[in-house]
Amino acid sequence: MLNIIPQPVRIFEDSSKEGFEIFAEDFVTDIPCAHDFILFKNNFFADRVKGSSGEESVVLTIDSSVQHNEGYVLSCRGGKAYITAKTETGLFWGLQTLKQMLLQCKGKVPYTEITDYPRFSYRGFMLDTGRYFYGKENVKRIIDLMALHKLNVFHWHLTEDQGWRVEIKKYPLLTEKGSYRSHTNFGIKSHCGYYTQDDIKEIVAYCHKRKIKVIPEFDIPGHCVSAIACYPYLSCFDRKLSVATHWGVKHDILCAGKESTYQFVYDVLDELMELFPDKIIHIGGDEAVKTRWKLCPHCQAEMKKHSLKTEDELQMHFMTKVNSYLKEHGFSSVMWNYNKLGGADLLTPEIAWTVCGIDDGEDIIKNEICRGRRLINTNAFPFYLDFPYGWNSLESVCNADGALTENDSETQGIEGCMWTEYVPNMKRLEFLTFPRLSAIAEKAWSEKGKTSFKTFSLKLSDYYSLLDKFGVNYAKENKSCPSAVYKALSSLWFNRRVLHWQGLHNLIDNKKVEIKAKKLNK
Ligand code: ACM
Ligand code: ZN
Repeated sequence: MLNIIPQPVRIFEDSSKEGFEIFAEDFVTDIPCAHDFILFKNNFFADRVKGSSGEESVVLTIDSSVQHNEGYVLSCRGGKAYITAKTETGLFWGLQTLKQMLLQCKGKVPYTEITDYPRFSYRGFMLDTGRYFYGKENVKRIIDLMALHKLNVFHWHLTEDQGWRVEIKKYPLLTEKGSYRSHTNFGIKSHCGYYTQDDIKEIVAYCHKRKIKVIPEFDIPGHCVSAIACYPYLSCFDRKLSVATHWGVKHDILCAGKESTYQFVYDVLDELMELFPDKIIHIGGDEAVKTRWKLCPHCQAEMKKHSLKTEDELQMHFMTKVNSYLKEHGFSSVMWNYNKLGGADLLTPEIAWTVCGIDDGEDIIKNEICRGRRLINTNAFPFYLDFPYGWNSLESVCNADGALTENDSETQGIEGCMWTEYVPNMKRLEFLTFPRLSAIAEKAWSEKGKTSFKTFSLKLSDYYSLLDKFGVNYAKENKSCPSAVYKALSSLWFNRRVLHWQGLHNLIDNKKVEIKAKKLNK
């Protein structure tokens, strides 16, 4: 029996007939979406090419009568595989299914008829390259694995307290200095790295060939210590800081009252807009502590000027202003939701939300849907992939529904998030990502209510063989669905993070700024 992940909508296998090989030299319709498949064939089945028969054995056809924009029909019969789709994207997803079939059936395909289309149009993976830098080749490997699972949005977290990773020509210090931290949570070794604009263009083109959109994240106004370390005027009180060495929410954020901060943000966005043609930019908005804004004369003046009552409202004003700038240039924006923040009614509903916590805010979510806000489900539980399996087990991912409300049309899609402060290399990243991301892909693609831990478990042994063929370092069941003892131990290990949350340095730093603010007010 065929075991495909994500589970196709309908799959009919005629086991009364023998499977067959489909390789001939000129074996596939030569259109751009097939090039990735040709690479695949050369990697895995180079020795099977039979010489030219003059006929295609994988026949790709665009047909406008196919049901869904990304849907496809895959039919294997009479020595050929036929894929029919409304768009090249649909053909591409059909070829991903064919790849899984070929690897599972040792280069043959069974007589099959598959009709398939996605549940959600947004099927994402977020990679935090700010905490740890993942180089071009590693990013491409992740993109290949995303495509194999029919994921179609790469959310690329490019700026963080601990590192600035994208070359910005107008502000060269951002990468000269801001991409380097002297040491890390893991010890005394320094860490650095960034993408040149040419690297970014290369990766974006790589994604587009694989039908994956790229949404860069420029996280503002919080998570900007690496930028402030290069250009202190961006902060309230012109703070002289180093690029953050450790994880934890920082109190020094961009000043929301100085014109020069807005100019910086617009300049960076100008260059990002040139690099990211999918016309969406994630502008962060998370974990922006307001300690400095409360004391800063510029921030306070901005609040007065716009009749804003609280610093949370000032943040909504800031995000809305940045969204307007993007909109003027034909771009739209996304930010992390923060339900607990007041002033959400001042935040334009044009900004979509990656919803990372709804524990305390289902009413807010419903209200935002009524206001027309678009929502992507990135709930930390169970979609944060950096969390140990003891917190987010494979089972909890498989058994999640995936939608934010009862009605699927109110959710744009789902995204798995890989935050990397405690994930310093690809080996660890793959261990945490697989097979949880595969289960997320299944939630995002397969029909609502049709998949569960039970159905996923039945496919696992074939799926492990597939991952083995790609050399992926995945977690087996004893790790991905851990025992109570392992759960407790992994929680304990992971909770040491909290020590960095509100460390002594924050207390000392806050005191220093209070003294400075008092002097200014005298
Ligand atoms: C987040 O968890 N900082 C979005
Ligand atoms: Zn300020």
